[in-house]
Amino acid sequence: MFYDAIENNHGLSHDPFKALVAPRPIGWISTIGTNGVVNLAPYSFFNACGTDPHYVMFASSGRKDSQRNAEETGEFVCLLATYELRDKMNTTSAGVASDVDEMQLAGLTPVPSVLVRPPRVKESPVAFECRYYRTIELPGKNGAAGGYSIVLGQVLGVHIDDGVIVDGLVDVSRLRPIARLGYQDYSVVDNIFTLRRPG
Ligand SMILES: Cc1cc2nc3c(=O)[nH]c(=O)nc-3n(C[C@H](O)[C@H](O)[C@H](O)COP(=O)(O)O)c2cc1C
Repeated sequence: MFYDAIENNHGLSHDPFKALVAPRPIGWISTIGTNGVVNLAPYSFFNACGTDPHYVMFASSGRKDSQRNAEETGEFVCLLATYELRDKMNTTSAGVASDVDEMQLAGLTPVPSVLVRPPRVKESPVAFECRYYRTIELPGKNGAAGGYSIVLGQVLGVHIDDGVIVDGLVDVSRLRPIARLGYQDYSVVDNIFTLRRPG
């Protein structure tokens, strides 16, 4: 099948787009608002976008708390959402008021970060402490405002649970990160193969 992506006339019961860009890693974003309240929310429009220096991005549909806090305070932390943490991750996606501490709401333990103010989560085996870099606003349909914005941050510090490092390598099978598919579906990384690049 083919369909016009502007018209989005796929004719299916649900928009297939996110099921086609899958799996998507989940950035679990911790920020602190100017009101001092800790905010935590998952973003599957998330990825790494540079290694020297290291950058990450997440894309927000409208200016949600994570984007606003990152922009207003200049800092955020990305945590890894694992299979064990899936329900707590999901709890933090609830649309609650900005004076609700979502780390507390999900029963997670805040731990001070080293270089930035937003806390990391003790239960998450990986955390990237980030300095907000800039936001790129993507034009909406027919150039309208109010669509998605890409929030970019430079990674300043990395936490890794020592228990997942084996012979100097991160054993991703010990991390068991979850990833977003389409609809209400997720995947967990539990199947790894190696492919050496030519040359
Ligand atoms: C697994 C998962 C991935 C999500 N990814 C995104 C995303 O990429 N962009 C977005 O705007 N919302 C996404 N959401 C919804 C937000 O997490 C939700 O709107 C949340 O309330 C935003 O919180 P905040 O206002 O504290 O930033 C996702 C939700 C889940 C459960």
